Amino acid sequence: MSTAPKTPSPAAGQRAAPPSFDLVLFGGTGDLAMRKLLPALYRRFADGQVAADARIIGVARATLSREGYQAKAEEACRQFLGDAFLAGTWAGFARHLWYVRLDATTAADYRGLADQLAMRPDVVRIFFLSTAPDLFAAICHELATAGIVTPNSRIMLEKPLGEDSASASRINDTVGAMASERQIYRIDHYLGKETVQNLLALRFGNTLFEPLWRRGHIRHVQVTVAEQLGVESRGDFYDRTGALRDMVQNHLLQLVCILAMEAPATSAADAVRDEKLKVLRALRPMGAAEALVKTVRGQYRAGIVGAGRVEGYLEETGVHAASRTETFVAIKAEVDTWRWAGVPFYLRTGKRLHEHVAEIVITFEQIPHSIFDGPFGSQPPNRLVIRLQPEEFITLRILAKSPGEAMRLKPVDLALDLGESFKARPLEAYERLLGDAIQGNLTLFMRRDEVEAAWNWIDPIRAAWDADDDRPRPYAAGSWGPAAASALIARDGFAWHDEQ
Ligand code: BG6
Repeated sequence: MSTAPKTPSPAAGQRAAPPSFDLVLFGGTGDLAMRKLLPALYRRFADGQVAADARIIGVARATLSREGYQAKAEEACRQFLGDAFLAGTWAGFARHLWYVRLDATTAADYRGLADQLAMRPDVVRIFFLSTAPDLFAAICHELATAGIVTPNSRIMLEKPLGEDSASASRINDTVGAMASERQIYRIDHYLGKETVQNLLALRFGNTLFEPLWRRGHIRHVQVTVAEQLGVESRGDFYDRTGALRDMVQNHLLQLVCILAMEAPATSAADAVRDEKLKVLRALRPMGAAEALVKTVRGQYRAGIVGAGRVEGYLEETGVHAASRTETFVAIKAEVDTWRWAGVPFYLRTGKRLHEHVAEIVITFEQIPHSIFDGPFGSQPPNRLVIRLQPEEFITLRILAKSPGEAMRLKPVDLALDLGESFKARPLEAYERLLGDAIQGNLTLFMRRDEVEAAWNWIDPIRAAWDADDDRPRPYAAGSWGPAAASALIARDGFAWHDEQ
């Protein structure tokens, strides 16, 4: 039977002649590998983007044959790819899959891996560390001792990168002792989302928005990443982490960076990362008292999400019965620069919320003077909504005359549906990020100083919460979070987008 890949509709952004690689997947049987990484690699293969001799080497503690690993990967790809799984192409992809049994902390186990890699000493090597972060140090140490990190090697690190600035810097030191910064690919999968990259296109590919993208024209900014999902099977991890570390330190702050940064001179990795870093460093630090006023923590209780009843956070497996871990956060952040002084950035994220939605809402200033009837300020200001997921669209609310004799203004939306406008399949975040690492493009990965600057802003908030006697405020699953989150923004005279 022919194993040549049947190419489904080609994805946007394909490149010619993919380079060869050996990709070593630590945590190769884990949840991320099965759910996201192997399906992403399969998709790249189906799009003709995996070189014929490329190898994907799953590494884990389980005793598995190569065939056993291929079978496990096939089951996962069938399950998580749905219609995108094309049975006829599987054998071709499976030929790229290998397996090495290895205990990350046992030096002798690295010999088998070293033997596998020694067959192709010059090819690009990627070590993807998709394990618990407490194994990063051991893995880096053993890789270095086994002498298998070549100048052509790249290390991909999955979040969480530490739990505070000190632990992040320890991880960075360990990895940095084995590889140079340009070999380290720190993942924030939000940067791999097509929609997030579209923000860069919107801001820096158009003349229209940039002159208005500042204080004086923008009144406030909202960033919401709401999930309907609970903690799923990760209760234990989540209970040690919480929404601030799990979502705000990385995904939400990266969105703020892209929204608030100055235009980089080019799209080169360091040009973009330098500008993002300046935003992180300009975030106004919060003292303990301020942190309690400018943040709201919540924790979900039982409720109805979508059509079904779900249990409360404290009943989830792996969660401590008296847990004070937050499953919801709202924050008023400020970026102290000439461009943004006085423009609040309201951030909000949580689990078991009313809707699954990620969006950015930019509310512009009121017009300075009205020539129309009616009290001044009675009309809503212009508003730009950038929906990142589940759908991708941009709407700009403007005022227009409503038909009839009277000169009455009504808000209407200029709407752009990006899914409809571009029929090509967008790349999934991990497809994009794995492809970029194989190509050696660091633009969408976080640099050490960015990660540490983000922790530096987060740590005092965490410390203020830890020192506070109050517990996170309860909210019913299926709601928009605790009422205090509405009060946080209402104090400044605004409302969350879903409340307007
Ligand atoms: C991960 C968090 O980084 O992002 C998860 O650890 C969260 O808790 C997930 O569910 C959300 O990602 P996405 O792509 O589904 O919005």
